[in-house]
Amino acid sequence: MDSDPLTEERHHGHRPHRHHAPHHQSLRPEAKNPRRDLRATRNPAALAPSSVNSQPWHFVIAHTDEGKARIAKATHGSFAYNQPKIMNASHVIVFCARQALDESHLAAVLEQEDRDGRFATPEAKAGQRKSRRYYADLHRFDTKDVQPWMEKQLYLAFGTLLFAAAALEIDACPMEGFDARALDEELGLRADGLTSVVIASLGYRSGDDFNAALPKSRLPADAIITHL
Ligand SMILES: Cc1cc2nc3c(=O)[nH]c(=O)nc-3n(C[C@H](O)[C@H](O)[C@H](O)COP(=O)(O)O)c2cc1C
Repeated sequence: MDSDPLTEERHHGHRPHRHHAPHHQSLRPEAKNPRRDLRATRNPAALAPSSVNSQPWHFVIAHTDEGKARIAKATHGSFAYNQPKIMNASHVIVFCARQALDESHLAAVLEQEDRDGRFATPEAKAGQRKSRRYYADLHRFDTKDVQPWMEKQLYLAFGTLLFAAAALEIDACPMEGFDARALDEELGLRADGLTSVVIASLGYRSGDDFNAALPKSRLPADAIITHL
């Protein structure tokens, strides 16, 4: 049953709520996710919303030791502190952005929307094509910021994954600390028009996870929120 990954947990009974810390310095190597948890964490990032439904992303998921070791190759030198967070995780997801928002991708999105029943008329399809093209061209040619724009969309998927994992009481460690050039090379990403941007490892926290025991620290609400 692959219907709705986010609600699937409810069909199997909800585990009692416990304190959840979204970022974990250390994950238990022996802890494996139950299969239903894995299905649930595989999909939410890919289901995230993105501007004009551009979906400028790709996800590389590793759950074998060999797969995780390939990703961990990008944690040499000053990134070595992240290596155990990859090797001891149950699953590791590399979030990749497209290098270009090209015609073939825009066409693939449009045809998928068509297959999914988004267009009642040919005019509706043409309208969607035109409005997506407007925003794509705005970022490609006018503001010339298509790369950061695509990465903004990717981070929505990243946040969605972290939140979905938290809702399922699966612990996660977000990581920007890796050598993107080395990882792109190891996974052959650039040849496929992709580049690695950020990594999430998933599992269950280890007993010596120092960060889980620390209190959360955020700037006070009145310093970062303005009510009108
Ligand atoms: C995009 C992003 C990248 C991060 N990169 C790393 C990283 O490479 N290694 C690491 O140990 N923590 C990393 N973190 C964790 C943050 O340091 C952590 O979330 C922050 O200090 C707040 O702590 P908390 O998550 O426990 O509240 C990253 C977090 C985010 C959101």
